[in-house]
Amino acid sequence: MGEETELKIPRHIGIIMDGNGRWAKKRLLPRSAGHVKGAEVFRTITRHCEKLGVEALTVYAFSTENWSRPKGEIEGIMNLMRSYLRDAFTFEGENIKIRFIGERSALASDIVELMESLEATSRENTGLILNIAFNYGGREEICRAARLLAARVASGELKVEDIDQELFGSLTYTASCPEVDMILRPSGEERLSNFLLWQSAYSEFVFMDTLWPDFTPEKLEEAIEIYSSRSRRFGASE
Ligand code: IPE
Ligand code: IPE
Ligand code: MG
Repeated sequence: MGEETELKIPRHIGIIMDGNGRWAKKRLLPRSAGHVKGAEVFRTITRHCEKLGVEALTVYAFSTENWSRPKGEIEGIMNLMRSYLRDAFTFEGENIKIRFIGERSALASDIVELMESLEATSRENTGLILNIAFNYGGREEICRAARLLAARVASGELKVEDIDQELFGSLTYTASCPEVDMILRPSGEERLSNFLLWQSAYSEFVFMDTLWPDFTPEKLEEAIEIYSSRSRRFGASE
């Protein structure tokens, strides 16, 4: 990367935290060991985003499609979530505003309660906004916004012609965050897997081969350098 490239810090980063299973397999460990290490890396990278001045970070932790995994693996992920929720992700006193995005009704009630309490205790924090996508799916998020709009039309509160991108966007989970500037997927896969479909219209995609549990702050900076070298045009000619 040329030294002349000015480092532009994305205002909002989305990360697909992928590769935990392959990391564990390479070490002949159970997949759960990969999820444990992945969760540690998540904390390190979140802190690094805060340090770099990123305004919002959205991480993909569990997708609506991940329910198709073996029951034991799902249970392991849920228990890991419980234990991290109990220690408040160890972000206590760190000025990070934590929010959970995704469908909560399918989650165990104790997990939902822990999520709500963590959101409540970090609500006044003014630093990094951390959205944890858990039982999240981009298509479901879009359907949810459509349902909310349809209900308002049905009640006569809203006219069909009033529905525009701004209104629709205001009903997505990330409405209060800046646009998602960069979506990062480690692990070698080059797809969205139903992550931030609405929000990624003009995001820059950065794919890296490193498995998520091996990810480091240096790798994050490398991704930001790649992002900085891109020319974003948003449909304009220059
Ligand atoms: C990401 O790692 C974590 C979740 C999807 C919960 P994976 O478990 O998908 O790891 P790989 O892709 O199989 O290596
Ligand atoms: C996407 O990874 C979901 C998360 C990282 C939480 P997957 O591992 O589930 O995606 P696919 O199956 O490779 O597309
Ligand atoms: Mg995967």
